[in-house]
Amino acid sequence: MLRRTHTCGELRESHVGQTVRLNGWVNAYRGHGTGLTFIDMRDRFGLTQVVFDGADLAKEIMEVADHLRSEDVIAVQGTVRIRVGGPNPKLDTGKIEIVVTKFELLNKTDPLPFIPDDTGTGGKLANEDIRGKYRYIDLRRPTMQKILGIRHKVYQSTRRYFDENGFLEIETPILYKSTPEGAREFLVPSRNVPGSWYALPQSPQLFKQILMVAGCDRYMQICRCFRDEDPRADRQAEFTQIDLEMAFVRREHVMDMMEGFVRRLWKDITGYDVPPIQKMPYREAMERFGIDRPDTRYGLEITDISEIAAKTDVAFFKDVLAKGQDRPKFNSGRGVVKAIRVPGGAEKLTRKLTDGYNEFVRGFGAGGCAVTKVNAAGAFETGIAKFLEPVKAELFAALGLQPGDTILFVSDLYPIATKSLGELRQKVARDIGIVPKPGSEGGPWNFLIVVDFPMFEKDKESGRWIAMHHPFTAPRDDQAKAFVDADVNDDVTIESIVSAGYDIVLNGQEIAGGSVRIHDRAVQSKVFQLLGLTPEQAKEKFSFLLEALSYGAPPHAGIAFGLDRLVMNFVGTSNIRDVIAFPKTQTGQDLMTSAPSKATEDQLKDVHVKSTFVPQN
Ligand code: AMO
Repeated sequence: MLRRTHTCGELRESHVGQTVRLNGWVNAYRGHGTGLTFIDMRDRFGLTQVVFDGADLAKEIMEVADHLRSEDVIAVQGTVRIRVGGPNPKLDTGKIEIVVTKFELLNKTDPLPFIPDDTGTGGKLANEDIRGKYRYIDLRRPTMQKILGIRHKVYQSTRRYFDENGFLEIETPILYKSTPEGAREFLVPSRNVPGSWYALPQSPQLFKQILMVAGCDRYMQICRCFRDEDPRADRQAEFTQIDLEMAFVRREHVMDMMEGFVRRLWKDITGYDVPPIQKMPYREAMERFGIDRPDTRYGLEITDISEIAAKTDVAFFKDVLAKGQDRPKFNSGRGVVKAIRVPGGAEKLTRKLTDGYNEFVRGFGAGGCAVTKVNAAGAFETGIAKFLEPVKAELFAALGLQPGDTILFVSDLYPIATKSLGELRQKVARDIGIVPKPGSEGGPWNFLIVVDFPMFEKDKESGRWIAMHHPFTAPRDDQAKAFVDADVNDDVTIESIVSAGYDIVLNGQEIAGGSVRIHDRAVQSKVFQLLGLTPEQAKEKFSFLLEALSYGAPPHAGIAFGLDRLVMNFVGTSNIRDVIAFPKTQTGQDLMTSAPSKATEDQLKDVHVKSTFVPQN
């Protein structure tokens, strides 16, 4: 075989006159049968034009060359010359071409289900299911090769940074026991221990804490995590984390280390210098943006106008404001009225859009969304306009209103009003086209570290307390005593306890989450008690960790980044499947291998499992 001397992306004018050999795929062909056949050869590194000249080559070679089709695999030998037809500025190799002297057809392809061309047929890529089934063809597209290259660079940059900072890379088991990240787990039956199951790790959380007890000081791992949740645009059941843990640190140390990592990674991958990252308390994020991962690239902030609303005669404001006013400001039982000012909304938001907002907020449990415009003369129009006249000056001042604006109001219990306006804010931003496109060309990248999360929230279905991060997250240093002393039935106090957790948010997406861990037994028991775990249950679930924590555990803290999400940002895609070599579909299937698939009776018997599934006809 003609083994390559260069890649298809490598040759330049400086190679003119040299004899070279290239290996690759036929990307495009022109001039078949004219005595002068042009082939664009492709490999991972680029494209090179090769010329078969019938005047110099044997008839048999021209015969084969003239029948080459896209994706045939070939090897050529030839001389590099300046491109006779003039340079092609779109190609790195566009100044040269190779005049073929020797040629081998290494493999003829069968007719392809689609051509791996970024522009697709007629400007459209083949349907995602077809591309998933033939992922190895889709991965040949230059864009996909580029993404794999970026992902590779992310691994390298990550390992370098953490190595330089004294972290040890340590692998932890995949066949594992339940982890407390809160999602449903994937189970694997044991053959050797009948009736027992492994769980695939939702994260290496407990192992990394144990590694701190084991004296490893600083641990990192690029690890696979498994959560049996429905996939979303930025969520897969099987995904990758950059996971780490540090001993003898407080939350500031971890946050500084993380900020340094973000800065290094962005510099390495995009050349962008990340400025110092702002910290925002959770409550502020919820108040201003209605979400704990605010997208701060645009305004449309939320304002609590309860006090002004109380002075109006709007019946649905009054009804809501009659609820829970004696409770603390952020209490879930308290009624509030909140609003968003949409600058220029009177023109930008059509009637159809604003009608839709009513339905939209209902999806989050709100009664509806009242819409009022400020006309060119500065007067309120539509909806509850006439009821707002008496508080006009106050409303103008509170919301900073201008002629031509639209106001969107939601009145409801605190969490519902907050959540629905937080979601509506993002929808409005999309509707009026103010969300900048993500991309690696210098951003805009808006990073934020959200801190001071509540330790607990009430589970909507069961009404029970659940850990907002996970049950090993410590309260913030100054909250520990109040927490240990709190009456477990005192909801108001429990709701107010703030944790030592932190999330890193980028352009409205959570890219990392972590916390300081509990290493005090009184605090840990209290957490279990609140979560409704008896000491026996806690012991059964986490005995190895609790035991380890009792044998000289250093204070420790850590965090995990969603690696796939980082790559999504560098690539500028909103589809997580684009950045994973072999992703799964919305229903968790791998279309290429047809996983998951049926097990045979014998396999099931081996692992002591009987299926109760009855196929429906
Ligand atoms: P957490 O559950 O917040 O924390 O996960 C950390 C980060 O992982 C990413 N992520 C996901 N990415 C893709 N698909 C998913 N299904 C998915 N789930 C999470 C997110 C998230 O910020 N053990 C703790 C970390 C710690 O406390 O140190 C943990 O796993 O970007």
